[in-house]
Amino acid sequence: MATKNWTAVDIPSQQGKIILITGANSGLGFEATKVLSSKGAHVVMTARNLKSGNEAISLIKKENANAKLDLIQLDLSDFASIHQFSQEFHKKYKQLDVLINNAGVMNPVNRELTKQHFELQFGTNHLGHFLLTGLLLDILKNTPNSRIAIQSSAMHKNKMGKPDIYFDDLNFDKGYNKNIAYAQSKLANLLFAYELDRRLKANKIDITVAAAHPGWTKTNLTRHSGFFLKAILSNILAQKVEMGTLPILRAATDVNVSGGEYFGPTKMNELRGYPELVKSSDKSYDKELAGKLWKVSEKLTQIIYNFT
Ligand SMILES: NC(=O)c1ccc[n+]([C@@H]2O[C@H](COP(=O)([O-])OP(=O)(O)OC[C@H]3O[C@@H](n4cnc5c(N)ncnc54)[C@H](OP(=O)(O)O)[C@@H]3O)[C@@H](O)[C@H]2O)c1
Repeated sequence: MATKNWTAVDIPSQQGKIILITGANSGLGFEATKVLSSKGAHVVMTARNLKSGNEAISLIKKENANAKLDLIQLDLSDFASIHQFSQEFHKKYKQLDVLINNAGVMNPVNRELTKQHFELQFGTNHLGHFLLTGLLLDILKNTPNSRIAIQSSAMHKNKMGKPDIYFDDLNFDKGYNKNIAYAQSKLANLLFAYELDRRLKANKIDITVAAAHPGWTKTNLTRHSGFFLKAILSNILAQKVEMGTLPILRAATDVNVSGGEYFGPTKMNELRGYPELVKSSDKSYDKELAGKLWKVSEKLTQIIYNFT
C-alpha cells in the first residue's frame, strides 16, 4: 500500500521555536530557513559572508515580511570564529530548540586547509560542526525536547569515495583525492550523529538527533565541479531545492523522530524523491569507529562534551 509522501505541509507550527541553521545563505540552508520561518520559527541564520546572509534575508522578507530572522557570522573553517559565534549566540539566546548542521563544502580541486590546518572538507563539514554542537550543548540541554539535525550525503557510501575515516592521514597530507576527502567528511557527519544520539540517550538527556541527505539537489555545492557536472548533468538529473530540502526538514521537525533516524530520497538510487527513512552504510553504524572518531575530534577541537 502506498504511503503518503511527506512534504512541507506536514511540518507543524514552529511558533515559539528558535532554530539555528548553518549555511543559511545558500541552497538547502536558505530553503530550510524560508520554510521554517514561514511556519513561525525564529530562525538564526549563519553565513560566513554577512553580505550574502543579508541578501538572503531580503529575499525571504520579500515573500514573507513577518519572517523572524537573525543573522550571525560563522566561519566553520576557523575555530576562533566558531567560539566567537557561540559567545554571541549565548549573549542573545537562552533557548535553542533545533540546531541544523547543514553548511558544507564539496570537492575543492586542490587540497585546501582550514585556519587550524585541517583538510578543508573534514575540518569544515565535520570538525567545525563537532565544535559548534559541543559549544551549544548547554543551551540545547536547557531547552525541553530540543533537536539536532545533521546533513550528510549519499557520497558517504559511494564506492567512488572509498568512504572511511583515515585515522593515519585524516588531512590527506600523503596524497589528496577530493572525492575521498568529501566522503570521509560525510561519513564522519553520520558517525557523529549516531554516536551523539547514543551518548545523549545513555545520559538521559532530552535532545533528539536525526540525520538526513538531500539526494542530488541543484545548489551552489557544485561550484568546484567541472562544467559537465555543474551545467549539464546537474540541470538534467538534480532535483529542485524545494524537494532536496525536505529530508533535513523532516529530521528537524517530524514529531515521530525518536533519535538515530536517517532520512533521504529513495528513487533513482537515492538521488531523488520524497524523504523517507533510509539506511546508511554499515560503516556509519560502527560504534567502535564512532568512538574512535569522537576521541580524535575532541582532541583536535579541544572540546570535551559535557553530558552531566
Ligand atoms: N546539493 C546536493 O546535492 C547535496 C548532496 C549531498 C549533501 N549535500 C550537503 O548539503 C549541505 C548544504 O549544501 P548545499 O547543497 O545547499 O550547497 P551550497 O548552496 O553551496 O550551500 C552550502 C552552504 O555552506 C556554507 N559554507 C561552506 N563553507 C563554509 C564555512 N567554512 N563556514 C560556514 N559556512 C560554510 C556556504 O557558504 P558560502 O555561500 O559562503 O559558500 C553555504 O551557505 C552540505 O553539507 C552538503 O554537503 C548537498
